[in-house]
Amino acid sequence: MKIAVVGTGYVGLVSGTCFAETGNQVTCIDIDQSKVDRLSSGEITIYEPGLEKIFNRNLKEGRLHFTTSLQDGIKDAVLIFLALPTPTGENGSADLKYILGVANDLGKILVPGDYKVIVDKSTVPVGTADKVRAAILASGGDQLTASFDIVSNPEFLREGAAVEDFMKPDRVVVGTSSERAQKVMQQLYEPFVRQGNPIIYMDEQSAELTKYAANSFLAVKISFMNEIAILCEKLGADVDMVRRGIGTDFRIGKHFLYPGLGYGGSCFPKDVQALSVSSKEAAYDFKILNAVIAVNKLQKEFFINKINNYYKGNLKGMKFAVWGLAFKPNTDDIREAPALEVIEQLLAGGATVTAFDPEAMPNVKKQTKLAIDFAPDQYTALTDADALIICTEWNEFRTPEYEKISTLLKSKTIFDGRNLYDPEKMKQLGFYYESIGREKVSI
Ligand SMILES: NC(=O)c1ccc[n+]([C@@H]2O[C@H](COP(=O)([O-])OP(=O)(O)OC[C@H]3O[C@@H](n4cnc5c(N)ncnc54)[C@H](O)[C@@H]3O)[C@@H](O)[C@H]2O)c1
Repeated sequence: MKIAVVGTGYVGLVSGTCFAETGNQVTCIDIDQSKVDRLSSGEITIYEPGLEKIFNRNLKEGRLHFTTSLQDGIKDAVLIFLALPTPTGENGSADLKYILGVANDLGKILVPGDYKVIVDKSTVPVGTADKVRAAILASGGDQLTASFDIVSNPEFLREGAAVEDFMKPDRVVVGTSSERAQKVMQQLYEPFVRQGNPIIYMDEQSAELTKYAANSFLAVKISFMNEIAILCEKLGADVDMVRRGIGTDFRIGKHFLYPGLGYGGSCFPKDVQALSVSSKEAAYDFKILNAVIAVNKLQKEFFINKINNYYKGNLKGMKFAVWGLAFKPNTDDIREAPALEVIEQLLAGGATVTAFDPEAMPNVKKQTKLAIDFAPDQYTALTDADALIICTEWNEFRTPEYEKISTLLKSKTIFDGRNLYDPEKMKQLGFYYESIGREKVSI
């Protein structure tokens, strides 16, 4: 099949590459000329495990193309995927200007009788499929009515495991009222669900809400565990034990039960917020979501307070090493990364920071104005620092050379926002060690 993907970011590039991997001819369209140039010349623009290999293969085999021209990109495509940003708008709802802007442009270039399936892959509020349809007809005229269908096909990939998630999805959600579009989607996704995972068909509205419900539910789990962790500290319990104790219950499940610095990234914060606003607009106060948002904000403060309390509120002249900048491991994405907020607070307190992240440092340099130093490796970051602060659970931080940490730090002090180390071991090694929801180890 010939497929166009509009928007070549984390979702668009992964989707386009994976569609090409199953034999389709894919053209990815982006307004960012430099991104298109880099991708066309074989340079990958994001870090995502496993992506580069299949990207190069499909580029070389001529199944993957890049352009800035919407008209050229969609010319022979049966399917047009919209993988465009839906950032938080003014009142907290999802801003649809990118989606509706492209819908408007599509209306001007779609040809009556040349049937296309237009697929919303972005995370969009209920009612967006109707708005996209209306925008296309408003700019293209009613003669286009039978020439396209709209499908809502939310994406559930996790950054850091995006290729695996895309190639072997737990489920594919397809929202459409058109049988014709459903058949096209079935044909496209069959190779991805050969192991029996379902393609779930539903109406557009339910598909749109499914994505928000999924992300919001996961955010609820995270915030719930973060509050349990706080309670553990107050009551002398150990959150690792509690997590294992409840995670073995199949009704609860063991995923998303790790306390930490609160959720970040480009999805959860904006999606939870957007669902809360959508709910308000539908005259319903979604109480759990509002609590989740508040807890998530508090969780970062909870961690920063640990540092402030230890230094009695005086961070002036302190030097901190920060391990991890990405919002989670295995990605270079720093959107809403908790590390950035922790660093901002340290700098505001008069401290200096030297950071290391295996993949995200170029993005921090490019996208933020944080006045920090960057170290070439995790150990160099420690030189003469007063403490190590861990913000992202990259694998290489899990079993570090403790000897080296002891020697390089000015003081053997670690604030661990990801519970990477065993408090008992830290005690034996003579560290001052604070983590989340577990015993504080004093020297
Ligand atoms: N990142 C994730 O893990 C993830 C997962 C599931 C769903 N989503 C949703 O998918 C959507 C896209 O997210 P993302 O993280 O890929 O965004 P992104 O910011 O990484 O990529 C968006 C791309 O769209 C391009 N773009 C903007 N306007 C354009 C236009 N008019 N024409 C062509 N290209 C244009 C941008 O240049 C950018 O390359 C969002 O709605 C997001 O919520 C993201």
